[in-house]
Amino acid sequence: MSVNITSVLNETRRFEPPAGFVAAAAISAAERDRLAAWAEKDPEGFWAHHAESLHWFKKWDAVFDGSNPPFFKWFVGGTTNVSYNCLDRHLAGPHRNKAAIIWEGEPGDTRTLTYQQLHYQVCKFANGLKQLGVAKGDRVTIYMPMTPEAVIAMLACARIGAVHSVIFGGFSAEAVADRNNDAGAKLVITSDIGWRRGNAVHLKQNVDEALKKSPTVKNCVVFQRARNTSVHMHPGRDVWWHDLMSDVSADCPAEELDSEHPLFILYTSGSTGKPKGVLHTTGGYLLGAALTHKWVFDIKDEDVYWCTADVGWITGHTYIAYGPLANAATVMMYEGAPNHPREDRFWEIIEKYRVTILYTAPTAIRAFIKWGDQHPKGRDLSSLRLLGSVGEPINPEAWMWYHEVIGGGRCPIVDTWWQTETGSIMISPLPGAMFTKPGSATKPLPGIAAVVVDKEGNPVPANQGGFLVVKRPWPSMMRTIYGDDERFKATYWSNYPGIYFTADGARQDDDGYIWVMGRVDDVLNVSGHRLSTMEVESALVNHPKVAEAAVVGRPDEIKGEGICCFVTLKQGVPASDGLKDELKKHVTKEIGALARPDDVRFTDALPKTRSGKIMRRLLRDIAAGREGKGDTTTLEDYSILAKLREQDEG
Ligand code: WT7
Repeated sequence: MSVNITSVLNETRRFEPPAGFVAAAAISAAERDRLAAWAEKDPEGFWAHHAESLHWFKKWDAVFDGSNPPFFKWFVGGTTNVSYNCLDRHLAGPHRNKAAIIWEGEPGDTRTLTYQQLHYQVCKFANGLKQLGVAKGDRVTIYMPMTPEAVIAMLACARIGAVHSVIFGGFSAEAVADRNNDAGAKLVITSDIGWRRGNAVHLKQNVDEALKKSPTVKNCVVFQRARNTSVHMHPGRDVWWHDLMSDVSADCPAEELDSEHPLFILYTSGSTGKPKGVLHTTGGYLLGAALTHKWVFDIKDEDVYWCTADVGWITGHTYIAYGPLANAATVMMYEGAPNHPREDRFWEIIEKYRVTILYTAPTAIRAFIKWGDQHPKGRDLSSLRLLGSVGEPINPEAWMWYHEVIGGGRCPIVDTWWQTETGSIMISPLPGAMFTKPGSATKPLPGIAAVVVDKEGNPVPANQGGFLVVKRPWPSMMRTIYGDDERFKATYWSNYPGIYFTADGARQDDDGYIWVMGRVDDVLNVSGHRLSTMEVESALVNHPKVAEAAVVGRPDEIKGEGICCFVTLKQGVPASDGLKDELKKHVTKEIGALARPDDVRFTDALPKTRSGKIMRRLLRDIAAGREGKGDTTTLEDYSILAKLREQDEG
């Protein structure tokens, strides 16, 4: 992220956590040091000790099995159940009637589910799944709005050992079909609509489209979010959520699952056009989710904790559903947009529910800054005690605004670095244990061996850029790419044998603090969402008028990165503004609104090397309006660059 680098390099401010926060914090500086040293000395003992705090039906025989790298196993021979840990475990004690989920829909409707109520719904829905023939190991697609039912569906799958694949509601019918097919999904769970900025998002309609091309899907369960929507129910295939729930028993004991039983698949963009189905399993993932949620968010019984992500992303999986529920926390859940009906919606929610912990993304913070301080200042945010950031590097300006305007100068900020693949937070401050610096995710959590290395894998000296890698396996790591072990090995384990490659660039400062700079592969970070340039390119080239396309990121004030497309048209097709719009719509239809190009530029040719490789580096300079300084000697046709630049000025 070139926009931030210069300001980040000069950043020297330090923020100590307030004394009151430190005094009450779960993990002190000394405790953090003790945990980190213990994990270095005896990683297996360290993880085993923490895994003891989960419920196991049968304890493991071995903590770790590294005999077939990179296919690592954790808590081998142990049996457990994620749904049991998130629900049943809390019913015997004082948390039975505690709010598990406090939900607010975009139109303002609200619901609260206690742990007891959530358990009841999950058990019934799990029996409903069984009634539809869903069995242990079957894959289930969940394509839902941000309603409690999304979480109920996830926990119900986990309860019976079905493997969920949640697809963000902003993805298109095409994307749903691709993912159904890759996973071989048997069932799709969706909703008639969801609400976004006052508009209905027609999820079921998209599913109908997708199911024309999803031969493995036998049934579709439809949650009714709104009345009066005309939804076509395909006879024999589609069933309403409320009908399915109407006469099933609420007695559904959790399956005793192997620690390595698959829990979910979550698709994410890689550097090729085809999204990867990241596979997470049961015991290790749950440990990572629960432990990091407890440590990083310093969670207390009376907290109202709000993570603003969508459950369709890993952040929603780990920090809306599994982590907080495993810790018997109260989760705030909101369905809609931050600027509906007004730009103060988030602050209104914080005021109304007395939210104590807020976990959101830099792109949202930058939008809030743009909308103006009057919105947060018009609301009482004094309940907040801790703030979190995730998804991309946070620029120091946004960090400072978050700290002052939202946190009132009294809330520590946890800038959390992690990935879909890592399952849980890897690099982050422990808020009562260390000072923070605006723009740095600080240090790896105890147990996590994240380091910055050069091309050869040697540690780089302080303040020099390098690649972020993880040297030791950790429990919540992904296990493979679903159905593609070879791609798993090639993507993450071939750059440095035996070491996990994150594809992020980073540097470490004199205090050992890590500053993550962004991706070093062809993956864009658009509003904290991962998107591969190849994915957008393949969407473009399957348009009948397009001959060739190259897609690059360019700095964007709000989104972090915007999407810029260079397109050559087929012989005889005239370039026009109308066609630009048509191509933007086409990409939206192929992938989803999150991939909508910001800029489409037509060109007669793309800059290529003599061996035919597109020189994206040059295109990135042009897209950003920068005078490129890099080497152009391998360029095959120099005149192309001049023409592309001319177009930019014109
Ligand atoms: C990529 C992972 C897992 C959280 C949501 C995104 C970037 C994420 C940070 C951060 C700097 C960050 C990285 C990473 N990223 N958090 N705190 N500081 N960069 O998950 O879609 O799997 O994307 O997001 O580039 O590789 P994801």
